[in-house]
Amino acid sequence: MAVLVTGGAGYIGSHMVLDLLEAGEQVVVLDNLVTGLRESIQSPAEFVRGDVADTALVSELLRSRNINAILHFAGSVVVPESQTNPVKYYRNNTANSLSLFAAAIEAGVKHVIFSSTAAVYGMAERIPVVETDPVAPISPYGMSKLMTEQMLRDLSVAHDLSYVVLRYFNVAGADPEGRIGQSTPGATHLIKVACQAALGLKPELKVFGQDYNTRDGTGERDFIHVADLVRAHSAALRYLRAGGESDTFNCGYGRGSTVLEVIDHVERASNRPVPYRFAPRRPGDIGALTAGNAKILERLDWKPELDDLNVIVKHAYGWEARLAEKVSGAGS
Ligand SMILES: NC(=O)c1ccc[n+]([C@@H]2O[C@H](COP(=O)([O-])OP(=O)(O)OC[C@H]3O[C@@H](n4cnc5c(N)ncnc54)[C@H](O)[C@@H]3O)[C@@H](O)[C@H]2O)c1
Repeated sequence: MAVLVTGGAGYIGSHMVLDLLEAGEQVVVLDNLVTGLRESIQSPAEFVRGDVADTALVSELLRSRNINAILHFAGSVVVPESQTNPVKYYRNNTANSLSLFAAAIEAGVKHVIFSSTAAVYGMAERIPVVETDPVAPISPYGMSKLMTEQMLRDLSVAHDLSYVVLRYFNVAGADPEGRIGQSTPGATHLIKVACQAALGLKPELKVFGQDYNTRDGTGERDFIHVADLVRAHSAALRYLRAGGESDTFNCGYGRGSTVLEVIDHVERASNRPVPYRFAPRRPGDIGALTAGNAKILERLDWKPELDDLNVIVKHAYGWEARLAEKVSGAGS
């Protein structure tokens, strides 16, 4: 019996693979490497290069590797890109997920864990936002994920398939042991970009909006350490295998940090200034978004272990500095 990790060469998926391997799971990764990197996948996970949309390949894998559960990370993840190219997002995040789930049902896979997002809440009416609050995505990205959530709900009623949807807030940090981290060139995550700016790899960081109703006027987000996030998936897998009912959970710490607080932490971790300048608010950005996390704390066997912005930034910066060394080493 093995688990399939789609998108296992990506940022979060590769941390998931590590966690599963450490738990003694047999792991198969399916990734087309469109943004992921082969070297992010730790052994002895099996790597299959291919697309989630390739139903023949997926069906063959599910049967030949005796897959019992799928952790579905593969997807397109850049919100502004989803506004200019919605077809890509509905195709890769929604249509391709449907063909994966259809193959899973055919092959008798019992459990699916799906990477959803806080973007399903859109302009949340209150924070911390909880799972039963209205969902109203304002980007094709958020809508493509919400549609997939809905498909899972319907499929699980009609078929012998149980699922957990995890709605991630802002994922950050890197493997505490420094083996892997966020390696995607061009990634736009705030903490990564702030670390790059401190290292001189980016000329400056743009801070969008300074007149929000937050402690210091800049946007406030709930940053979750990637290692805590992947442990939430392992807890969800144990829950489903123990017969737990299909359900949806927010994944966050329930409190936020502002952009200026992040910059301050990066400056302290790196001992370097982070060059930044204020820019106007971006349309569609919300002032503050934090996760109501009472449900996941109560129902899954999961507790945050790294909910400290100092630790998140220290790990993110350590990884970024290592990446920068590799690049300059390769160039010299
Ligand atoms: N990073 C965040 O803050 C965040 C927040 C909310 C939700 N998520 C979700 O988590 C998941 C993983 O995000 P990430 O940050 O690790 O992104 P990522 O781009 O690093 O990883 C995605 C991986 O999926 C692969 N992939 C994409 N389309 C594929 C396809 N059709 N077939 C096979 N492989 C494919 C890519 O090569 C990559 O390795 C995504 O579904 C994303 O929407 C991420």
